[in-house]
Amino acid sequence: MSEGTESAYVPKGVDLEKPNAARTYDWFLGGTTNWAVDREFGKQVLQVMPSLRTVALVNREFLRRAVRHCVRHGVRQFLDIGSGVPTVRNVHEVADELDPDSRCVYVDNEPVAVAHGRVLLEKHGDLKRHAALNADLLNVDNLWEQTRATGVLDPNEPIALLMVAVLHFVPPGGGAEEAVARYKELLPSGSYLVASHATNDGIPADRAAEAATAEAQYKRANTPIGFRSREQFTGFFEGWDLVDPGVTWAAEWRLDDLDSELTSEWADNPNASCGFVGVARKP
Ligand SMILES: C[S@@+](CC[C@H](N)C(=O)[O-])C[C@H]1O[C@@H](n2cnc3c(N)ncnc32)[C@H](O)[C@@H]1O
Repeated sequence: MSEGTESAYVPKGVDLEKPNAARTYDWFLGGTTNWAVDREFGKQVLQVMPSLRTVALVNREFLRRAVRHCVRHGVRQFLDIGSGVPTVRNVHEVADELDPDSRCVYVDNEPVAVAHGRVLLEKHGDLKRHAALNADLLNVDNLWEQTRATGVLDPNEPIALLMVAVLHFVPPGGGAEEAVARYKELLPSGSYLVASHATNDGIPADRAAEAATAEAQYKRANTPIGFRSREQFTGFFEGWDLVDPGVTWAAEWRLDDLDSELTSEWADNPNASCGFVGVARKP
């Protein structure tokens, strides 16, 4: 496991005294865009919830399966909100494997994630087809304007809106439901919503205790997370057609397209993945 790098580019205004959810998640995934404060926080969280690293990797595997599903169903444009620090097998790479003309705009409210996304795209992407933006998912109009200004996505053609492992950073009552409803209005017919979300609803009893402690730690670190029930999560897809098999555990969704062994290890107890997932199409 990488120990990160202290020489990674630090954009102006970034406080490296405080851990950040994006960089801690990068460390969980084995990335290098994290600092001592993030790794220290990540280690504390893993002490109370040792499965969290696998939970993150299984979530990432769902993301790849969902992207492939969208491309196979004719969607070539991706708006990845809460995209995180770029890591191995990013959305544009997975999409490009199936359609080299696919397009992707990455959005995150963490400046380090965005700066590293830009560096990666300059080196390995195609700036006509890929962009990275700094925006908050709750500022829908600003985010949408910035996305349009890149010229990367055609707003009249279907777009897959990815909100993977991000909505729980806006706890219930914080405006996520309203924001998602507005994105769904803006997107044209044939677009997809791909989402995953941490939960404590129906997870194994030992995980529930761990999840509660981890939730308290994130709150203390000023990056609060808020779990949603299956019903609350399903509400994000309202009015759109859920793709089979509907809302499931991350370790349950379309396992016929797995590209790693990890998820199948939880086939007998998929609720250990502690996250709901779903993909829906706008009629
Ligand atoms: C756990 S990571 C998920 C990364 C990626 N989507 C994945 O599933 O592998 C969550 C990301 O959401 C970002 N985020 C949290 N709140 C956000 C907000 N209000 N607007 C935009 N991004 C946000 C964090 O900075 C972080 O990079």
